[in-house]
Amino acid sequence: MTTSPRPDGFRGTSITGTGMYVPDRILTNRDLEKLVDTSDEWIVERTGIRERRVAAPDQASSDLALIACQRALAMAKVDAKDVDHIILATTTPDRILPSCACTLQQKLGATNAAAFDVFAACTGFVFGMGIARGLISGGMADTVLVVGVETLSRIVDYKDRNTCVLFGDGAGAAVFQACEAGVGIHAVDMHSDGELGEVLEVPAGISRNPATAHTVAAGEHFIRMQGKKLFPFAVRSMEDATRKCLDRAGWSPGEVDMFVPHQANLRIIDGVRERLGLPEEKVYVNIDRYGNTSSASIPVGLDELVRSGRVKPGDKLAFAAFGGGATWGASTMTWTAPVPSSNGDQLAASGSAGAHA
Ligand code: ACO
Repeated sequence: MTTSPRPDGFRGTSITGTGMYVPDRILTNRDLEKLVDTSDEWIVERTGIRERRVAAPDQASSDLALIACQRALAMAKVDAKDVDHIILATTTPDRILPSCACTLQQKLGATNAAAFDVFAACTGFVFGMGIARGLISGGMADTVLVVGVETLSRIVDYKDRNTCVLFGDGAGAAVFQACEAGVGIHAVDMHSDGELGEVLEVPAGISRNPATAHTVAAGEHFIRMQGKKLFPFAVRSMEDATRKCLDRAGWSPGEVDMFVPHQANLRIIDGVRERLGLPEEKVYVNIDRYGNTSSASIPVGLDELVRSGRVKPGDKLAFAAFGGGATWGASTMTWTAPVPSSNGDQLAASGSAGAHA
């Protein structure tokens, strides 16, 4: 579904702060050459990925999300106690019960927030944008914190070269707040197709196939993916969803100042860019440094753009994602937040190591 344009008089929804966090440990393609039959050349040529981050043994998803959220709230100058809802998008919660969002709420001290998880794989942050917009424009909330976070290294089989080269860990967050009508988010497009469920799955661990010694021995708690089937679907679905949101905003592709696509594969990003007719400099790419961080990839990219001063008030932004489920979606928005005044300090704070930011 695509949300309708706001009727006159409805309040708008905008982003007032962003934040990200990636773990310190870098896993390079050369490191992976020692684990599986692969090569740096193959991975770079087929995916664009050079390295990815891996969480420390004592870091769970809520720990990564906490830092990203604290940074987003600091930029927005919002106290955690003033957050009305926390929407946490993930495929890798700390535990299946309680929700990762509730664990994060407690760590943040966001005592007045209702908190819940969204399971929409790599499209989770876009779905979170849609829900946040609905809550705010409908008057149910003034401030919504949306965070995409993954510790995919915990469900990746480092013996499977088809998947282990692709995924990384990280977190990205954004604070959504009410704003005047006509600016902020113009459209959010959200879709699912359960027919494609088995193309990307974790076969065991919950109700269909509970964890047993056998499922663990068979590696059924790891991600399994039919990457070739996903590839054309990814390109088509991100293009379609983006075009719908551009139409809703009344923009042509050429008017977009910056497009932030989900970072699954550089060839997928290039395919979408070419179909939309966008120049390379208008498409944000950081897959070389982080790999596919699923629900975290769009907010991580957005935070890097914001803190490097590449997004200014009035800029037209578009976002698009696809993921397991299958799910896909997009969003368009006019940026409203000021350029952060101390870019240098905030940049240093945004990446843990800072070397690649
Ligand atoms: N190193 C070396 N060779 C490899 C590797 C590797 N890491 N992985 C696969 N190969 C081999 C294959 O076994 C195959 O060999 P074969 O011809 O002898 O059978 C050969 O390389 C070609 O494999 P393809 O699958 O055709 O490679 P392709 O060019 O399609 O690239 C990839 C594979 C990168 C997975 C690509 O299909 C892709 O990116 N698909 C989309 C996947 C995706 O985005 N998934 C994330 C979804 S988002 C979410 O919800 C988490």
